[in-house]
Amino acid sequence: MRDPRRVAILISGRGSNMRALVEQADGYEVALIASNKPQAAGIEWACARSIPSWALDSKGVDKEAFDRKLSDALDSHGVGTIALAGFMRILSPWFVNEWHGHILNIHPSLLPKYRGLDTHARAIEAADSVGGCSVHVVTEELDAGEVLGQVEVPIEPNDTPETLEQRVLAAEHRLYPKVLKEFVAR
Ligand code: GRF
Repeated sequence: MRDPRRVAILISGRGSNMRALVEQADGYEVALIASNKPQAAGIEWACARSIPSWALDSKGVDKEAFDRKLSDALDSHGVGTIALAGFMRILSPWFVNEWHGHILNIHPSLLPKYRGLDTHARAIEAADSVGGCSVHVVTEELDAGEVLGQVEVPIEPNDTPETLEQRVLAAEHRLYPKVLKEFVAR
């Protein structure tokens, strides 16, 4: 039984958005932290807090075979909503279809601007005065699903991609738990 209020967070790295989603959980329960990188810092953090976790190194594994195993793990924890949080892997069409409408992602730009990588460098290069972050529904097209929430962040004259990233990241940590709460309630 897939319960929308039981959320899995998918990570590949440091997991700061994952921590924000766990620490600000309201209206949803984090049922599983899953990763395609067993060494991801966030997995250690989850284990230390006794949050159920699942990790399988995706390197060299067939994409859909990996995604089917991931999907089984989600089902065995009764997950109904998936929050991608720095999951650096494109999901297979099979997985996106299987979980259609139940996968969210946070992206460090004001979508539809700057899909893909290096968003902060591209915003600075374009001399934008604001950057920001977006939470969107995941579809097969990269960073292109319905936008559910955004926060704008000013870009200062001396910003580097790194300083802008820090400011945007703080906004991400406020935005994602709020949007997820609204999403699971709808
Ligand atoms: C964040 O910038 C997020 O917007 C992007 O990947 C990064 C993940 O950072 N999708 P963290 O692992 O949550 O710290």
